Amino acid sequence: MDWVPWIFGSGDVSWLGWASESPFSLLLWLLCLIGHLGIWCVVFNRVHATALPRKFRKQSEKVIVPIVVLPFLYVVVGMCLRLDTDFDSKYLLCEIYMAASVIVSFYFISRWVYRRFLVGLPAAVVSRERVWVDVEARVHEKVSGAFFAGGTPQLLGMVPFNEASKLTLEKMTLAFDIPDQLEGFKICQLSDLHLTGHICIEYFQEIVKEANQFEPDMIVITGDFIDEAICLPWFESTLGQLQAKYGVFYVLGNHDKRIKDEQMLRGKIEECGAVAVAGAWHAIDIAGAKIVMTGNELPWYRAVDRLPPPKEQPESDFAILLSHSPDQLEWARDYKFELMFAGHTHGGQIAFPFIGPIVAPSKHGVAYASGTFQIGSMLMHVSRGISGDEAIRVNSPPELGLFTLTAKGAEA
Ligand SMILES: [Fe+2]
Repeated sequence: MDWVPWIFGSGDVSWLGWASESPFSLLLWLLCLIGHLGIWCVVFNRVHATALPRKFRKQSEKVIVPIVVLPFLYVVVGMCLRLDTDFDSKYLLCEIYMAASVIVSFYFISRWVYRRFLVGLPAAVVSRERVWVDVEARVHEKVSGAFFAGGTPQLLGMVPFNEASKLTLEKMTLAFDIPDQLEGFKICQLSDLHLTGHICIEYFQEIVKEANQFEPDMIVITGDFIDEAICLPWFESTLGQLQAKYGVFYVLGNHDKRIKDEQMLRGKIEECGAVAVAGAWHAIDIAGAKIVMTGNELPWYRAVDRLPPPKEQPESDFAILLSHSPDQLEWARDYKFELMFAGHTHGGQIAFPFIGPIVAPSKHGVAYASGTFQIGSMLMHVSRGISGDEAIRVNSPPELGLFTLTAKGAEA
């Protein structure tokens, strides 16, 4: 029971020294680092889930990253050099923090085990298919210019396993209680295009072609259209070419805030034929069946404040919510939606093999980083999105979604 004095802070034992002596102390040491990483990932995710100014969020990274990394370096260097240090035994606060990290590590590990092994695909997902498209190769067949533009994006483009230039077509059939008129209704979702100029315009033009090849009945775009105003002229040959029988609908995302003139941005998007849905109910008649749709751009835009209360939700055969962030799922519970589309989290953008992503800008952390989730009676799909602020994605490839509705029981 040598570890007892360490946990309770006898002040005469070095945890680092222990780590080199017994397998059990190595385990404690590992749990301590897992807890430490988990605590600061929570802080990071929470900060990035807010509408705090970008400058503040960027500054917070300069604090959080060293706090996370330095203890790892301390341990690794200490182990390699077999330093005889009793750093932790000298500082009570350090011991308390380390003991707390061990304790909370069990919480993080159990959450991970639950998500990794116990949460299955919702029963409403009756079929699922993923098709890979090498968009970069296709673009190079047509144009000779660089796919990634600028120094950093070009360097990122050379990173092994970077999937930022690929595309996955995620095709799903979803079962709901729907009238016959909605059988086979096809919804295409695009999210997080992030027009920055870091990836050439032809990439986005190819994605629009793929979306049109689905011949969707409806296209929904869940925010983060653009980061750099220089890409505003790209809208016409990308968004402006989207085709869907019953229309293209959108909400804005946090990165769209980088375009200071919100009305001008909305005007440019709507010139392309897309309809803003935040803050009002939009009814669509499908041969007598009624779809209603609204949007939520919280916490960055407040159009949703104009929405009538839940008791005034219009009657419908199928209700859809577009939200940039999956964090609005609690808000959605007060209304009655069959299907919610979200984006924002990019699947964590970098996902470790087997472990998965560890950071995502959500108050739920990586729980809803991407995928399809049953939230009460509502199904929520969180897209990994098309692109990102930085042109890097590992084990979290860009996603273009196609969702085909079917009646419950008809799938058998
Ligand atoms: Fe995004």
